[in-house]
Amino acid sequence: MSFDYHDGLLYAEQCSVAALAAQHGTPLYVYSQQQIVKNWQQFAAVWPAPHRLCYAVKANSNLAVLNVLAQLGAGFDIVSGGELARVLAAGGRADRVVFSGVAKSRAEMAAALEQGIYCFNVESAAELEQLNDVARAHQITAPVSLRVNPDVDAQTHPYISTGLKSNKFGIAMRHARDVAVRAQDLPHIQLQGVDCHIGSQILTAAPFLDAADRMLALITQLRGDGITISHLNMGGGIGIPYQHEQALDVSAYLLELQRRADAVGGLTLMLEPGRSIVGNAGILVTEVIYHKAGDDKDFLLVDAGMNDLMRPALYQAYHDIIPVKQSSASPMLVDVVGPVCETGDFLGHARHLAAAAGDLLAVMNAGAYGFTMSSNYNTRPRAAEVMVVGDNAHVIRERETLSELWKGEHIVELRR
Ligand code: LLP
Repeated sequence: MSFDYHDGLLYAEQCSVAALAAQHGTPLYVYSQQQIVKNWQQFAAVWPAPHRLCYAVKANSNLAVLNVLAQLGAGFDIVSGGELARVLAAGGRADRVVFSGVAKSRAEMAAALEQGIYCFNVESAAELEQLNDVARAHQITAPVSLRVNPDVDAQTHPYISTGLKSNKFGIAMRHARDVAVRAQDLPHIQLQGVDCHIGSQILTAAPFLDAADRMLALITQLRGDGITISHLNMGGGIGIPYQHEQALDVSAYLLELQRRADAVGGLTLMLEPGRSIVGNAGILVTEVIYHKAGDDKDFLLVDAGMNDLMRPALYQAYHDIIPVKQSSASPMLVDVVGPVCETGDFLGHARHLAAAAGDLLAVMNAGAYGFTMSSNYNTRPRAAEVMVVGDNAHVIRERETLSELWKGEHIVELRR
């Protein structure tokens, strides 16, 4: 593993986490480059080109992370004009970008058309019409994949489940054929494929394969209508173990997907993995400010809060919390909570930890949807980020300064 103890001290690759915290302060995100590469290879080794793996930028969009993946030949799944700009700034190739999202604006469509992205994952009939319009104004043709909602239950947290009929995402399966026929007719649309994304943090292959079967049946039906479909994009969603869950066997899933797609034939397979590439490649390091005895439990008040890592507050997500320096003291039952003025501001409930003020803790598996979901709530500057490469650590995002937080704000004269 890229995060491990040596002589009782936690290391990120060959860098002592305590030394990183001393140098860069806390809260601090620490990423292992080697772990990102390893996670990527898990996919790329099973699916060499011409398959397309598009890393979901929303999971972790730091330029250094995107740049590593670009160098490994990654494509990118984006959901905004901002993410497209990041990919380009990081050296990613526009022609390997797929653009997801339910409410793309005209300006975002125009920017993506100008850059020449691989395709738009279109989520509604209305979006298709607007894209045709924007493409006409640019006198070009927009490459399109239709995001279809396969209506499968991904059996994950309701906030991150996206493939049910009741979700806002995708075109309903029963409308897919009509929208595909319309796409064929629109002069500035080039229909290339279909895609789906059923949810996130899914740890069994069954819902994915179930969705794949429905998508393959749709492809067969569309082809029967004379519509050309050359790719199937199965989205992201592959979960990682946060507690003691069994990891999904990625290569078995990819091979089975390949087998089923081969049976239909003529398809390039695509995926949009996010969490599975960066989740276990990052930790959030935080310092204990106080230990406070409570009536029925104790609290460790730490300097990282829900604004730094929102997942526990938002999804009751579990993240392992471990000491940066192992201790022989006997563990206490504690809630690990942040400084933000919200009861929901916690990192972990009912943990067994031996820690006192001044000690450092590491919140594990924080590489995905950690920094990208962080905010400035309570006027807290966002954390610094470092990427470790062997025994070197590089600052890949400086800690925000206070004055940066109110940059662009203006005081208004009081009318009396
Ligand atoms: N493709 C699409 C269209 C998506 O909506 C997503 C994630 C992905 C790919 C990447 O999914 P992944 O492989 O990372 O599961 N903030 C939540 C997760 C939200 C996921 C949103 N969509 C969390 O912290 O658990």
